[in-house]
Amino acid sequence: MLSLNDTHPYHDHGTPASESAQQVMLKIDGVDVSVPAGTSVMRAAIDAGIEVPKLCATDSLEPFGSCRLCLVEIDGRRGTPASCTTPVEAGMSVRTQSPRLAKLRKGVMELYISDHPLDCLTCGANGDCELQDMAGAVGLREVRYGYEGKNHLGAQKDESNPYFTFDASKCIVCNRCVRACEETQGTFALTISGRGFESHVSAGMDEPFMESECVSCGACVSACPTATLQEKTVISLGMPTKSISTTCAYCGVGCGFKAEVKGTEVIRMTPWQDGKANEGHSCVKGRFAWGYATHKDRVTQPMIRAKITDPWREVSWDEAINHAASEFKRLQAAFGRDSIGGITSSRCTNEETYLVQKLVRAAFGNNNVDTCARVCHSPTGYGLGQTYGTSAGTQTFKSVAKSDVIMVIGANPTEAHPVFASRMKRRIRQGAKLIVVDPRRIDLVAGAHVKADFHLQLRPGTNVAVVTSLAHVIVTEGLDDAAFVAERCDDKSVVQWREFVARPENSPEAFESATGVPAALVRGAARLYATGSGAGTAQSLADAIAAGGRRPNGAIYYGLGVTEHSQGSTAVMAIANLAMVTGNVGREGVGVNPLRGQNNVQGSCDMGSFPHELPGYRHIGGAEVREQFNKAWGVTLQPEPGLRIPNMFDAALAGEFKGLYCQGEDIVQSDPDTQHVASALQAMECVVVQDIFLNETAKYAHVFLPGSSFLEKDGTFTNAERRISRVRKVMPPLSGVGDWEATVRLSNALGYPMAYTHPEQIMREIAALTPTFAGVSYEKIDRLGSVQWPCNDATAEAGTDIMHVDHFVRGKGRFVITQYVATDEKVTRKFPLLLTTGRILSQYNVGAQTRRTFNSQWHDEDRLEIHPHDALDRGVKEGDWVGISSRAGDTVLRATLTERVQPGVVYTTFHFPESGANVITTDSSDWATNCPEYKVTAVQVMPVAQPSTWQRAYKDFNEDQERFLADARHGAAAVATGK
Ligand code: SF4
Ligand code: SF4
Ligand code: SF4
Ligand code: FES
Repeated sequence: MLSLNDTHPYHDHGTPASESAQQVMLKIDGVDVSVPAGTSVMRAAIDAGIEVPKLCATDSLEPFGSCRLCLVEIDGRRGTPASCTTPVEAGMSVRTQSPRLAKLRKGVMELYISDHPLDCLTCGANGDCELQDMAGAVGLREVRYGYEGKNHLGAQKDESNPYFTFDASKCIVCNRCVRACEETQGTFALTISGRGFESHVSAGMDEPFMESECVSCGACVSACPTATLQEKTVISLGMPTKSISTTCAYCGVGCGFKAEVKGTEVIRMTPWQDGKANEGHSCVKGRFAWGYATHKDRVTQPMIRAKITDPWREVSWDEAINHAASEFKRLQAAFGRDSIGGITSSRCTNEETYLVQKLVRAAFGNNNVDTCARVCHSPTGYGLGQTYGTSAGTQTFKSVAKSDVIMVIGANPTEAHPVFASRMKRRIRQGAKLIVVDPRRIDLVAGAHVKADFHLQLRPGTNVAVVTSLAHVIVTEGLDDAAFVAERCDDKSVVQWREFVARPENSPEAFESATGVPAALVRGAARLYATGSGAGTAQSLADAIAAGGRRPNGAIYYGLGVTEHSQGSTAVMAIANLAMVTGNVGREGVGVNPLRGQNNVQGSCDMGSFPHELPGYRHIGGAEVREQFNKAWGVTLQPEPGLRIPNMFDAALAGEFKGLYCQGEDIVQSDPDTQHVASALQAMECVVVQDIFLNETAKYAHVFLPGSSFLEKDGTFTNAERRISRVRKVMPPLSGVGDWEATVRLSNALGYPMAYTHPEQIMREIAALTPTFAGVSYEKIDRLGSVQWPCNDATAEAGTDIMHVDHFVRGKGRFVITQYVATDEKVTRKFPLLLTTGRILSQYNVGAQTRRTFNSQWHDEDRLEIHPHDALDRGVKEGDWVGISSRAGDTVLRATLTERVQPGVVYTTFHFPESGANVITTDSSDWATNCPEYKVTAVQVMPVAQPSTWQRAYKDFNEDQERFLADARHGAAAVATGK
């Protein structure tokens, strides 16, 4: 294996671990060994420090037994069994070394090597090739067979994937890639085709990888023991020399990675086997799409300008910071303390986010701080807070392996949370049942070896009706867990809620016309979730439990398809009710799990980014909590919540809000009603944007502070499991100043001193001031790999894996009445279709990162999905340009005709600024949190021949802004070179 200077080295155990509690004693090479029953002889030997040669075995995959290199001798057994496929038995006596074994192994290796190009010195995998290692391990010195016979040395390379090469001439047909694609990823893109000498790895039907089902997760590349499947960066740049553990900066799964580098240059990112969120798996974004970090578009010099119609001027950090601080002071003097505010970023670390909210509260002196969670999971905060007492997913990702029934509501894990989707699919292939509640026929409904038992294809905007009617069935058919409810939930709320959901108007039949979901499907899904069978009854459930069984473990996973609605908070509470009434809270395999969008959405909320909450979700109105912060920070905090993001925009347009510090968010592209957002920014006098690129929001800024990518910073991210993991610096900040340092400088310039010299000090302060973080420290995370909050003296050392085990955080679980109220965003004759939006695997959020990678080869524009019937009605053909208009605005996209969407519903993504998807979305929002109703917009779609008015104006504006940036850079370069 590659010899690296590695912060957290990993040793392959050969085969997966057994979970058996029973221990088995055996002897290996005369050494007494004790391992769990079901362990392979290979793993038992390796764990005892006895290496066994192997090629087709690796501990992330079930053993296959094809290479015959791991042969051993076992007393009393004939022949030489493969140790990877032989389970241990009590009293076994195993020999891993003997002259006979040595001869057999040499023979095997000789055959492999005789059909392998002997170009080790120039091979991209030289030094990181298990074939090479095994040739050495078995002592192979000469090969008796020449190349004269039939061989595979002339096999064609497949270079179609932008990130990895498939060089068939080096393949030893060990099947690891095929198994990785099936077992780890669950895509089934690869097979071994042909027999005997003809057998070879085939992507799809012997297609190039890019034309097959492959989703470029890289699992096969990681599994391949040779250079057959190899990262192109390794081939072109050579082997890395150092490996640093860090955390993916894309989605809320929070996969652990090894950044493998040479000096400060990243050579590849490999998924970390000990990363608890991903256990060695990855998706195309984290694994391969990191090249944006050194893209030529990075802006690394601070810039200022008086007006957004002015060119930028590159300045020193001091000048930029002093200018921003003096502008903020001027605005507060002229327009009042509350005339400025800040936006924290869910892409930044906990430490950076904490500092920005501290800056706003302590240095600005107000509570005008908000975060992008406002536009995604703020209803989760509200809904789970009201019912359970805290805004937190209840489980670990691993918990899904114990689920019997999985319900996915308004989430598309295979696109948006792919590594978790792979875990979930594995569990479904093992037999767990699946219910999908989604207006679209997402991949999980009928994918590779995965099929939903029920797909409730509801109309956008009717989640509350569907989830409430699921509860109706459970309550009226007696499928509830009365004992759990009696012991764990608030009596009064239970009585009221039961009476409410049992009403006939909350039945699936009553809601059928609103939701579009046949009542029989809702009834079947409710029975399945509560009893494990679509035909389950109270009696069958009672009989099963009496016969020694238990209630099935039902787990709910939900996403932005639940929260981004006018009733987003109500839907979250309906989900929480459903889990409580069936007793599906507080143990493995169950729970309520919000799938967070961005990498640190959980963390940015935890860190007090909302205007009404201090770190740890403590209301700013609480005098005791405020006093704690007053003392620690030496200030007097305002007791009233500040402005939410939409309120900031409204106040700006009213002339009352004049200055904004926006770190790492692109509100112009990501927030709804783009024209409204742009007008609000134009009404401000000092917009300070800190980002790695000149994003859409920066085009409206007066001060640009260069941000740094995750590769340039130390800190922590918190994923959707509440798991706090380290982000470690791999290269220095390209601008010379870290994000947290810029906030410190700004605070100092504003007259509120901050004296941190490293993010670790910030985490110490967070831990000291936040009870749920009291036990968190860099030292502990370094030692344990990660911890999950709550993490303090009352929890295990690594924190809390499952929430609400004996009691809810609020004490008794509270049922909340969830009255369905149809959204105001209704179809009309003018706008007869409903638009809903979402994500795609290869792109991420506003696309600022992924658009600057090869990922655009999969998806290089946002398309409008439309049902063929709706397309036919409008004369729209595949690929036609169509105008989409809503009451907020118009844009033009190309159409994709698909039955994934139901008639009456259209769908698009929002990864490309010129698409203007959010030009169409409206100001309609969740009643409790103002989370925008992205998922329901009434629109009309018509064929058009030219871009929309907004798109034409955007093109001109964008060209001006790009020119201002280019001129600033050119001007600075000219000054530097004296030309
Ligand atoms: S990259 Fe992933 S999806 Fe593609 S073939 Fe390999 S394992 Fe399968
Ligand atoms: S490509 Fe690699 S992993 Fe797959 S069969 Fe060939 S050598 Fe084994
Ligand atoms: S699943 Fe999410 S966290 Fe994991 S590699 Fe992909 S984008 Fe990164
Ligand atoms: S490693 Fe056991 S047969 Fe290949």
